[in-house]
Amino acid sequence: MYVSDLALDDFRSYDELVLSIDEGVTAFVGPNGQGKTNLVEAVAYLSTFSSHRVAADAALVRQGADGAVVRAKVVHGDRPTVVELEVVAGKANRARLNRSPAKPRDVLGVLRTVVFAPEDLDLVKGDPGQRRRFLDELAVLLSPRLGALRSEYDKVLRQRVALLKSAATARRRGASFDLSTLDVWDGQLADAGAQLVTARADLVRRLRPYVGAAYEQVSAGDGAARIDYRASIDVVDEAPDPGPELLGRVGEAGETARAAVADREALLLDTVAVRTRMLEAMERLRDREIERGVALVGPHRDDLILTLGTLPARGYASHGESWSYALALRLASYELLRDDDTSPWGPDGEPVLVLDDVFAELDSRRRDRLAGMVAGAQQVLITAAVAEDVPESLSGARFDVRDGQVTRV
Ligand SMILES: Nc1ncnc2c1ncn2[C@@H]1O[C@H](COP(=O)(O)OP(=O)(O)O)[C@@H](O)[C@H]1O
Ligand SMILES: [Mg+2]
Repeated sequence: MYVSDLALDDFRSYDELVLSIDEGVTAFVGPNGQGKTNLVEAVAYLSTFSSHRVAADAALVRQGADGAVVRAKVVHGDRPTVVELEVVAGKANRARLNRSPAKPRDVLGVLRTVVFAPEDLDLVKGDPGQRRRFLDELAVLLSPRLGALRSEYDKVLRQRVALLKSAATARRRGASFDLSTLDVWDGQLADAGAQLVTARADLVRRLRPYVGAAYEQVSAGDGAARIDYRASIDVVDEAPDPGPELLGRVGEAGETARAAVADREALLLDTVAVRTRMLEAMERLRDREIERGVALVGPHRDDLILTLGTLPARGYASHGESWSYALALRLASYELLRDDDTSPWGPDGEPVLVLDDVFAELDSRRRDRLAGMVAGAQQVLITAAVAEDVPESLSGARFDVRDGQVTRV
């Protein structure tokens, strides 16, 4: 798929912008602060309803305006679809599909994007929340119905945490508290939580070979990358964690460790089993949860473990290795989406690649390898401060971005 037309109203720094672009590579070049990222952020927002830069949508609306509109014509094969999202700060998005009102969730999935950005380094170095978000966004791109499940889980979690906090306060004051309401929320958290855990664990299983292959390419064979899902139910169960050093070992110890990991993963793919284990864990930890007023079990406490060779990447990988890992995660996402045969768009489901200011962050070797790997993509949107930052092998259309004006060169 590719975006052929983009129109913005009151989005970020743009009051009004209309732009036509082609398949292949398009670079947006201009000094900092001129609106390059704002432009590609708008494209990505249509595919995930979220920004790689901010958590709250309010920042997307141009200062002084009431709402922003992002509209794009997305072409699958030779079939154009017009998608439109209206962002009104503090309210739910309004969506239109081929100019008729639609539910936002019907728009989800029409445009698929994979965004590379300087912030990606946080996927490797940052806290687990970044990696959970990475998994969830990819999972929703692959199967849009998971978007609703995520919102449902977040809602139930907020309610349950509020209840735990009230219980904590009541306990401190020696007041009585009816714990039976907590049982209800435990059940709902386990319902939605188990489905989310299974979806993520399944995604990690599918993504793993792609990450291994992409890392090998980006790093030119320098180390083996492996991803695993670490569920909080495994941690609170104190299930034996074989540790990466055992996993990489040759011989019996290695075999045993790898078998244990495979068993644990298989358990996570069984929603009914996960649900039961979540309920058991909540029952066991209830006292501690009330004491601290926090929910200790569930996908909001899980993590994606990134291993490089026999060491975890986080805390051990060098700066260059961390960059290779971050690129590998994005490239793997792109390739998984491209190969996904459940896409309603069939072979036209290949995502649009967005490379926001990444080449300037990379050394020349990684830069060239990344360029080589994305050169064949159907559509690549690149932003860069200077034209020299865009590798030569990615020649294509170029726009200058300056003072909110976007002009084709
Ligand atoms: N909601 C907003 N309203 C008005 N201006 C904004 C808004 N959000 C960001 N900007 C402006 O957009 C500019 C940054 O644009 P950006 O696309 O990040 O630049 P770059 O070209 O460096 O990628 C800044 O000058 C910032 O003040
Ligand atoms: Mg930028």
